[in-house]
Amino acid sequence: MSARPLALVTGASAGLGVEFARQLAAQGHDLVLTARRAERLAALAAELQRAHGVVCHVMSADLARPSAAAELLDAIGAAALSIEVLINNAGYGVPGSYLGQAWEVHADFQRVMVDAVALLSYRCAAGMRARGHGTIINVSSLAGLMPSTAGHTLYGPAKVWLIKFSESLAAELAPSGVRVLALCPGFTLTEFHDANGMREHVARLPSWLWMDAASVVRVGLAAAARGRVVCIPGRVNRALALAAKILPSSFLRRLVASRAADFRKID
Ligand SMILES: NC(=O)c1ccc[n+]([C@@H]2O[C@H](COP(=O)([O-])OP(=O)(O)OC[C@H]3O[C@@H](n4cnc5c(N)ncnc54)[C@H](OP(=O)(O)O)[C@@H]3O)[C@@H](O)[C@H]2O)c1
Repeated sequence: MSARPLALVTGASAGLGVEFARQLAAQGHDLVLTARRAERLAALAAELQRAHGVVCHVMSADLARPSAAAELLDAIGAAALSIEVLINNAGYGVPGSYLGQAWEVHADFQRVMVDAVALLSYRCAAGMRARGHGTIINVSSLAGLMPSTAGHTLYGPAKVWLIKFSESLAAELAPSGVRVLALCPGFTLTEFHDANGMREHVARLPSWLWMDAASVVRVGLAAAARGRVVCIPGRVNRALALAAKILPSSFLRRLVASRAADFRKID
């Protein structure tokens, strides 16, 4: 069995998940890579094994399936693997109005964004606490700190949930030496806006609003190593979060609503 610490990265087939896997492998972690697109995971595993000599386990899963997270954990247990670092990163946005989508679309979304995170954290944190060390990073969003707009109706609430969940779990696990971080990126250059069909809309946003995935992950991993509980990467994003904290909420809601069509499909 490998002496290297093992990291489980969800959503490892694209964007921030690929970057988490690359940077954790460069730090000397073995990896469990999961997402739906197994061929992408296999290519990443081969790349990381070649570049860093780490062991990568590919376990594809659709976290929208009600039993998928439990089956993934069972497969990890059956392989006698212990997770030292859990990156709850898988996620997407559902564009358009809340009532314009079938309920099953929203139910799937909540299973990926909330239920899977809660279960993966529950089972992995138990082992971490018993061993007296471990790290959980929950990829939330600046959207969890800003007023919500029409469109992506469950997205903001799911990201708020991740921040509150991380704060509670961090407080519960702090005495045991386990660290929990909510990472709150703003607009990040990944496949997120291709996956939800918003690329054309967000192309209108100014370039200074965007960060690259490697920088977001670097800041997030450093914040977790320092024991931070909530991390907002980037000066622009921190300024936006501060503004959201101090400006009157009715004014902010109007302001954000007036710009919402730039980054949300609301019909
Ligand atoms: N990009 C941004 O501007 C931004 C800003 C703030 C927060 N975030 C958050 O960052 C996280 C990563 O997103 P990203 O920007 O890296 O987007 P991305 O490039 O589209 O990657 C999303 C990842 O989530 C996985 N995923 C989606 N649905 C899944 C499902 N049903 N089961 C399992 N895996 C699933 C995808 O893999 P498969 O399709 O292969 O399953 C993919 O690996 C998300 O939680 C997102 O909300 C992104």
